[in-house]
Amino acid sequence: MTTAVIGTGTLGSVIAHLLASGGETLRLSSADNESARMLAAEIGRAAVVARDNRDALQGADAVVLALRFTALRGVIDEIVDRLTDKLVVVPSNPLGIDAQGNVSRLLPKGQASGEVVAGWLPAGARLAMAFGTLAADLFESSSERSPELAVLFYVTDDDRAGEEVERLIRTAGFEPVKAGGIEQSGRLEVGGDLHDLVVGPTEARSVTGGA
Ligand SMILES: NC(=O)c1ccc[n+]([C@@H]2O[C@H](COP(=O)([O-])OP(=O)(O)OC[C@H]3O[C@@H](n4cnc5c(N)ncnc54)[C@H](OP(=O)(O)O)[C@@H]3O)[C@@H](O)[C@H]2O)c1
Repeated sequence: MTTAVIGTGTLGSVIAHLLASGGETLRLSSADNESARMLAAEIGRAAVVARDNRDALQGADAVVLALRFTALRGVIDEIVDRLTDKLVVVPSNPLGIDAQGNVSRLLPKGQASGEVVAGWLPAGARLAMAFGTLAADLFESSSERSPELAVLFYVTDDDRAGEEVERLIRTAGFEPVKAGGIEQSGRLEVGGDLHDLVVGPTEARSVTGGA
């Protein structure tokens, strides 16, 4: 199947490599497409560079928005009419960095980033917050863990989105475990109890209470 990956920086490039290794076909785009072109060249036949963000959605079954939280809304607005009836996967942590390099959360305490993103999407788009729970290097090195696959947690309010994101998570070499509805997205992000947690399925289900 085909997935668009918009944003081919540190995290997007790892997501793309892992999905391509699992057999997914990819359509890539980035801000100026230079990093998308380099990534497509690294991946080879499984990846093509789209003309732009809108073109990335052409023929795609799903889209991963591997963007900084501050870029997310603008890109969603740009592609909004192409998101109806698509799985939209968002790995973004709601973090900003000031001129001094200080990192802070961009949303008020207790406000779930997933609920904010859901409010930016059109009716008919199916949102799952996923693929942003592990730092990129840990994410890459934990794929296809043996003898027991590592878990990638996700949250969604939509059963069909759950099935679709589970397929992508398996394609990337992980065992999917749902951590709850979109309102639980804070558990996945930096500072959340499931962030950077590399565990197998049994331990994962005990921490999520089998959500
Ligand atoms: N890095 C990690 O370890 C990690 C781990 C977990 C979650 N996350 C989350 O993943 C998200 C991405 O992080 P990152 O570290 O990968 O950031 P990054 O390296 O800065 O990459 C951001 C990507 O977004 C692209 N971009 C920016 N504006 C765009 C636009 N208007 N249209 C299309 N593409 C656009 C950039 O394009 P160009 O390449 O052309 O500049 C770049 O490819 C963040 O929200 C972060 O919280 C990151």
